[in-house]
Amino acid sequence: MSLIDKYNRTIKYLRLSVTDRCDLRCFYCMPDGFTDYEEPEEWLSFAEIERVIASFTRLGVTSVRLTGGEPLVRKDLPLLAKRLSALPGLKDLSLSTNAVKLGKYAEALHDAGISRINVSLDTVDPEKFKKITQGKLSKVIDGLLAAKAAGLKPIKINMVIMKGVNDHDVEDMVEFCREHDFTLRFIETMPMGDTGRNATDYYLNIHEIEQRLGEKYELIPAVMAGAGPARYVQVVGSDLKIGFITPMSQHFCDTCNRVRLSASGTLYMCLGDEYKYELRPLVRGGISDDDLDQVIRDAINLKPLKHEFNEKPEKVVRFMSMTGG
Ligand SMILES: C[S@@+](CC[C@H](N)C(=O)[O-])C[C@H]1O[C@@H](n2cnc3c(N)ncnc32)[C@H](O)[C@@H]1O
Ligand code: SF4
Repeated sequence: MSLIDKYNRTIKYLRLSVTDRCDLRCFYCMPDGFTDYEEPEEWLSFAEIERVIASFTRLGVTSVRLTGGEPLVRKDLPLLAKRLSALPGLKDLSLSTNAVKLGKYAEALHDAGISRINVSLDTVDPEKFKKITQGKLSKVIDGLLAAKAAGLKPIKINMVIMKGVNDHDVEDMVEFCREHDFTLRFIETMPMGDTGRNATDYYLNIHEIEQRLGEKYELIPAVMAGAGPARYVQVVGSDLKIGFITPMSQHFCDTCNRVRLSASGTLYMCLGDEYKYELRPLVRGGISDDDLDQVIRDAINLKPLKHEFNEKPEKVVRFMSMTGG
């Protein structure tokens, strides 16, 4: 069974937000002082999530990434991971995290079937980290080391590049990732909500970063399993792979294979659009498995051909942590 949208793209990948809350405040993601969170009773329970993901796997989705907000602020996340990784058809369960709580959970997550993780880290300068996130860098580093010790691999570091904020930290990040055997990926800022739109004042086309790195390192094209929309190069003479994710300067919508489910059960078809479908009322209203499968199949046809971040940056009112990045 396949989940195919009206533009003939096969949907194989679901990003599952387990909470819209977070223990950091990256200025490009979440508004300072924001408290208008969903209430926990609005979140899908673990049993409800399992049911919805089971439906997606029946329809051919093979990869799920747990995200948020910060997924590790949701209580007992390893228990959910364990339930999901037992679902027949699910081949790949991964996690996006800020790593603040990873020191505590890395081993349990690995044991629960999380195969690989992506960690947001925009700088290894503690002062700058504090300015960007309002958090403490040492916790993230501890979390990363715990993840490595627990055997989570690959560990991909996602660095949002912002001109005048952290674009000069790139070389330090390259050395940090080389030293620890992490993969480094650069991401362009996206105009999601007011916070994201404000951050596009710092927008930098990351081809400029690639050119700069090319002057210092010898880079050759590389292949990375599960690369998604990233294009990779390898630093010659090392194992370091560097990825470039360019949603703004070079969109990759025609090969998009994913949808997103928010913590409260809203299915979002695209990061850069408001097309959505509410699954929670159906799940709480006792819909049958067959009908749930059919609803999802129909809903997928709402998926737009491409995002309009460049043409209509004001279009997306929700910020990243509300959708699940
Ligand atoms: C919303 S976070 C959720 C998972 C987790 N809290 C984390 O930080 O990895 C997922 C990713 O979205 C990215 N992100 C958030 N707002 C963004 C924006 N306006 N533009 C580009 N990336 C953004 C973050 O840097 C992070 O890598
Ligand atoms: S990017 Fe991740 S860590 Fe930063 S505020 Fe958003 S959800 Fe939290």
